[in-house]
Amino acid sequence: VGQNLIKLSEVDSTNNFLKGLVSNSEPLPEGTVIMADNQFAGRGQQQNSWVAEPGKNLTFSLYFKPTFLNIQQQFLFNMAISNGLAEALTTILGAGVKIKWPNDIYYNDQKLVGILIENLISGHTYKSSIVGIGINVNQQKFDPALKNRATSIWQILQKDVSLMGLLSEICNHIEADYLRLKADRYIYLQKAYLEKLYRFGALHNYRHNGEIFEGRIVNVKENGAIVLEIGETEKDFLFKEVEFII
Ligand code: BTN
Repeated sequence: VGQNLIKLSEVDSTNNFLKGLVSNSEPLPEGTVIMADNQFAGRGQQQNSWVAEPGKNLTFSLYFKPTFLNIQQQFLFNMAISNGLAEALTTILGAGVKIKWPNDIYYNDQKLVGILIENLISGHTYKSSIVGIGINVNQQKFDPALKNRATSIWQILQKDVSLMGLLSEICNHIEADYLRLKADRYIYLQKAYLEKLYRFGALHNYRHNGEIFEGRIVNVKENGAIVLEIGETEKDFLFKEVEFII
């Protein structure tokens, strides 16, 4: 991962750019990385935009071909990516780095990294996957509209870190976990993911269908469902079915 690195000074979105390369007939090596100093139309999950101060942050996309997975196992791929990222960030930030289900990275209660995975599926198998990652690195201030919901490495360490150094650390960790996934080490990955999971095992508030209740995250399944223990019972929730309440 990262052997084939394409650096752009400006692009709409590195995910879009990579998608364009994939749809061209040129074969693209797996592990290709597209990074940009500035994205003028960076995209987030659920039609949100991703805005980052140019030159201060990491905005990049990785190309994978997890054709060895079937679509029921899609979430294992997300787990490998989030876990690799969290491990790389833990090397510089320590144990405050957490994975927020389904796949953001938080530091304490604030968002540090956003991940946008876009899969190309054919029948019951994966053809390719574009993993877009935005990390708040050396940005010092955020839009007050975010109301302390975002943080950056600079805000945590009070110093700049090397963007290329961090990118290479991330590529190495993601590659290691991707190889584990390829070697069917699902149990290992699931365990590593759960160990870093934001709010795992602790009582917090959640909302489902407008109703707020207390629950405890006890598991995340291979299909991506989060399992909450609510009172005496356990209940599965899929993406967007449950909201984390502060
Ligand atoms: C989110 O938290 O909503 C996901 C944000 C993903 C942002 C990254 S930045 C690099 C890549 N290109 C994009 O347009 N989006 C992703």
